[in-house]
Amino acid sequence: MPAVAYTNGRYGPVVEAAVSVEDRGFQFADSIYEVVAFLNGRFLDWDKHLWRLKRSLAALHITGVPADGPLTAIAHRLVRESRAADGLLYIQVSRGAARRDHPFPAGVAPTLVMTARRFDFTQRIGQQKTGIAVITLPDQRWARSDIKTTNLLAAVLAKQEAKKAHAFEAMFHLPDGTVTEGGSTNIYLVDGDGTIITHPLSARILPGIARDTLLVLARENQIRVEERAFTLAEARAAPELFLTSTTAPILPITRLDATPVGTGAVGPVATRLAALVWGEIARQTGWNATG
Ligand code: PDD
Repeated sequence: MPAVAYTNGRYGPVVEAAVSVEDRGFQFADSIYEVVAFLNGRFLDWDKHLWRLKRSLAALHITGVPADGPLTAIAHRLVRESRAADGLLYIQVSRGAARRDHPFPAGVAPTLVMTARRFDFTQRIGQQKTGIAVITLPDQRWARSDIKTTNLLAAVLAKQEAKKAHAFEAMFHLPDGTVTEGGSTNIYLVDGDGTIITHPLSARILPGIARDTLLVLARENQIRVEERAFTLAEARAAPELFLTSTTAPILPITRLDATPVGTGAVGPVATRLAALVWGEIARQTGWNATG
């Protein structure tokens, strides 16, 4: 079944959906987005994604977007029309289309686009057992990585470097060695005491929804969590590293710049967390890995 789209009030196949060449998302990346997982036809953490969408809109001063109720109704209709049980909903809101000029145009309505398409989450279960490779790169993004804007050029270039190195992700670090996050994931280390350490919420990282879920689950299960900056040197010495995102709910990192992490095998803390994360997904959606 082909992917389906909603574009400013119209539903149809993605290949027929279009926005203006003067859309400010296209010309300036003057737009924000969300990626939401659905499994068994049910959204994971829908309310948290709505919260972050509104946070991003407020940061860009974009107004005039439908309220939660109508937005949710559009999202549900798209998932139904995609006829996919498991997939990804993409939402993008731009400031709208207007003659090219940097300041905000007056009297222009935002462009709202959503797409829904199938996504195979079972591939993550296999990757979780073997672990994945990550490379390290300087963080070249702007200073407001906490806003989920479509200005993703630094991530695009970094993820292409990772792909060339046959790695799943690029881990970003600042000039002082601080690890921020991945190109499209949040990153964690597990220290020798089994404590999870991850960069605190700040302008330097995206407040990941999977991050929020993971930290809640860890704390509920008496796994210690420290939200503090850690360095590349600490990451290289850590017994375990892992990452999270909507499309990769939890993946252990077993190679960093081609060097084994810890023993090179998936560690006990990531294994335990993976069981908790998939348990939470099953609780919310009824999905389970064996289908
Ligand atoms: N990426 N950090 C960055 C820079 C991201 O782009 C993402 C999400 C995350 C994880 O956030 P969440 O847990 O809410 O998915 C962290 C999405 C999936 C993407 O761009 O495709």
